[in-house]
Amino acid sequence: MDLLSILLRAYDRGEQTDKNLRDELMTMLLAGHDTTALTLTYAWYLLSQHPDAEAKLHREVDEVLGGRTPTFEDVRQLEYTERVLNEAMRLYPPVYVMFREPKIDVRIGGYRIPEGSALMLPQWVVHRSERWWDDPLEFDPDRWTPERAANRPSFAYFPFGGGPRHCIGKHLSLLEGRLIMGTIAQRYELEYIRDEPFSLRGSLTMHPQEPIGMRLQAREKP
Ligand code: HEM
Repeated sequence: MDLLSILLRAYDRGEQTDKNLRDELMTMLLAGHDTTALTLTYAWYLLSQHPDAEAKLHREVDEVLGGRTPTFEDVRQLEYTERVLNEAMRLYPPVYVMFREPKIDVRIGGYRIPEGSALMLPQWVVHRSERWWDDPLEFDPDRWTPERAANRPSFAYFPFGGGPRHCIGKHLSLLEGRLIMGTIAQRYELEYIRDEPFSLRGSLTMHPQEPIGMRLQAREKP
């Protein structure tokens, strides 16, 4: 029973119009595909620049999966893999800014915000702020061990937004991310093939300006 079948059943029962069905699918494809693909892109890039983290990831996928294709049951054990994804979304949040407009005058953190103001909530800035993070520009997946994450304010990190309109796809994307990373990292390492760093282009999501060139290298098994 996949999502498309559920939506089509509702359509057959007359609970969905053509336009609704199309809109739901476009939301799932755009909100769901682009963001997760970007997370994986930045994660592979960061791993290519941090051989220690890459070695730890390889150790974990080898130990947990032992050459098998990962399944839903395996993902809970892919803890380091999840830390890599979290840390990639900290440094390169695909949704790098969100917008809000108060319906009434409000006070936030001592500031008076009049009704109708345009508020920008920038993940990009908060995730890289020294106010909340030690060595904020350093890629360090072990920031996400339970001990180190314990006392961090929850909105120091909000790649999936927050509150009533937070992302409905958070768990799906972390599931996909771990399954895809586990599958690929067992067999390949990815090498960044350009000399200069890549540049970024912020549109609705934060994209690399041009494709990030990576070379797939079959891993040598120990
Ligand atoms: C790494 C992956 C993802 C990231 C970083 C991400 C990020 C976000 C953020 C920041 C919001 C809140 C926007 C706001 O409040 O203005 C959001 C909302 C949403 N996301 Fe995601 N998302 C991801 C994956 C997905 C997936 C896989 C799906 C669906 C399959 C999805 C569907 C949605 C939908 C439908 C909303 C709107 C929820 C609402 O307004 O009630 N997202 N996402």
